[in-house]
Amino acid sequence: MTLMPTYAPHSVSFTHGEGAWLYDASGKAYLDGLTGIAVCGLGHAHPAVTQAICEQAQKLLHCSNHFRIEQQEALAEKLCALSGMENVFFSNSGAEANEAAIKLARMYGHKVKNVNRPAIVVTEGAFHGRTMATLTATGNRKIQAGFEPLVSGFVRAPFDDLEAIRTIARNNRDVVAVLVEPVQGEGGICIPSDNYLRELQAICDEYGWLLMLDEIQTGNGRTGHYFAYQSAGCTPDVVTTAKGLGNGVPIGCCLARGRAADVLRPGSHGSTFGGNPLACATALAVVDTITEHELAARSTELGQLMAEQLQPLLMDGLATEIRQRGLMIGIELKKSCSELVALGLEQGLILNVTADSVVRLLPPLILSNAEAGQLAEKTVSLIRQFLHSSPSS
Ligand SMILES: Cc1ncc(COP(=O)(O)O)c(C=O)c1O
Repeated sequence: MTLMPTYAPHSVSFTHGEGAWLYDASGKAYLDGLTGIAVCGLGHAHPAVTQAICEQAQKLLHCSNHFRIEQQEALAEKLCALSGMENVFFSNSGAEANEAAIKLARMYGHKVKNVNRPAIVVTEGAFHGRTMATLTATGNRKIQAGFEPLVSGFVRAPFDDLEAIRTIARNNRDVVAVLVEPVQGEGGICIPSDNYLRELQAICDEYGWLLMLDEIQTGNGRTGHYFAYQSAGCTPDVVTTAKGLGNGVPIGCCLARGRAADVLRPGSHGSTFGGNPLACATALAVVDTITEHELAARSTELGQLMAEQLQPLLMDGLATEIRQRGLMIGIELKKSCSELVALGLEQGLILNVTADSVVRLLPPLILSNAEAGQLAEKTVSLIRQFLHSSPSS
């Protein structure tokens, strides 16, 4: 194999997709309950996305951020209008969007707070990416192990624990920001208490910290609003997103407002590819489709429908908890279940296991009701089979 073995892929390989379905070379169909980990929110081969890519590819793929890029400005305007933010930095990935946020917070610490060694509060169980700063921010030792020395300037608190944050606030004068996911995705679809983000914002305001939300996975309509914080009664200073923004064309962004919006200046950050015409034209089509077809509201409807159909897993004692926000669904089993993914593929079902024992569903927002029902039904039957074939191990 000439690939560095950073992944251990399944032997299945897909040749094409349409809507919620992927196909392999033999023509076998797979119902996609994962969408490349919350990326293809509009499903596969969505006509509006395909058209935007083709039209833009015929005109201009790339030029450089040293020139004004019309598609980038239009996309920034749309994202700001949707989010209540004021400006945007475009990247190619989620990790880079978070790197921008981390750099912004440090610069804010130096320039505005006069702190020499600015620190950012991050949480246990968090996932923020695989670059050195973002893997340090990530609250999972497995992802950090072997890459020491880690980056300094992060302080860890348990997730959904406001008292821990208040204690840090009283004791650590270096803190300038908090970075947190509204729902922890890789951590196992962990949903915080209803008041968590609102209270976090109050603490940030009291101490002059930036509230920075990582919406790489939760954004772009997945949890019932364009961004998850929009149902939490808070307005962050910084928001990052990626994944579903390009529906498969790599693009991420870091949005800022107020005191965070004028921290970065010409020369303080950059990216060769970030926000190029192709990525932005694609993302414009994605954002327009999500908003015009009200797909964020649809994710609430579909999520509720699926959660109801997954209830037998709880009633029969097969799952200990089902955590769901829109089309982010986590089914907690009593045991490790990573083998379930291969079993699903055999049966034409694509899903994922995270945090060892959580079956994770991140299906497209364009599912029909029948497909949502089918996905829930196939998932229930797969979990039953899996638990019956290896009941106590
Ligand atoms: C919440 C969150 N932040 C950051 C990232 C990193 O994004 P990327 O893999 O595009 O760098 C991910 C990816 O899973 C994520 O879920």
